[in-house]
Amino acid sequence: MIFIFTQPHACRITRWHFLRRFDAKSSFAEIFSASRTAQNVSKGVAVTDLFVAKVGDIADRDRRVVADGDLEIGVFRLGDDYFAWENNCPHMGGPVCQGKVMNRVNEVIDDGKKSHGFEFVDADVHIICPWHGFEFNIRTGVHPGESSTRLTKYDVVVRDGDIYVRT
Ligand code: FES
Repeated sequence: MIFIFTQPHACRITRWHFLRRFDAKSSFAEIFSASRTAQNVSKGVAVTDLFVAKVGDIADRDRRVVADGDLEIGVFRLGDDYFAWENNCPHMGGPVCQGKVMNRVNEVIDDGKKSHGFEFVDADVHIICPWHGFEFNIRTGVHPGESSTRLTKYDVVVRDGDIYVRT
């Protein structure tokens, strides 16, 4: 496969994103069928808790994607916290929750606007959509460059050592 880059800036960014999404270790996360639990009532509204995994089954910085009919939800673990997002990228509907997990990358630019390369930002962990590389902060679901572009959130419930996502 041959890539032709016409602008130095585009070359650097495009190559960077290409490598980030498709390195040898990157693979699509498996989708599990969710098992339904009894419906509950929360604030007067009937909700369903879908079983996701046992606490400890999801490694730190990993995720489990569950399906309930056409609805797919990715449940991510960061430390002791869990975050759930619909597996539907706001860009073009790609399986965003099955992409690669990486820390945010900053380009280091000095006062003279000279680039000094890239650095990882440990505080911000991103999921990268495997289709076109849109990134979203796993804690907020927000695209780092466009705050109106965001994932659809679901609540996570941890009960008796089990993790559920509430739909
Ligand atoms: S569908 Fe996710 S980046 Fe395009």
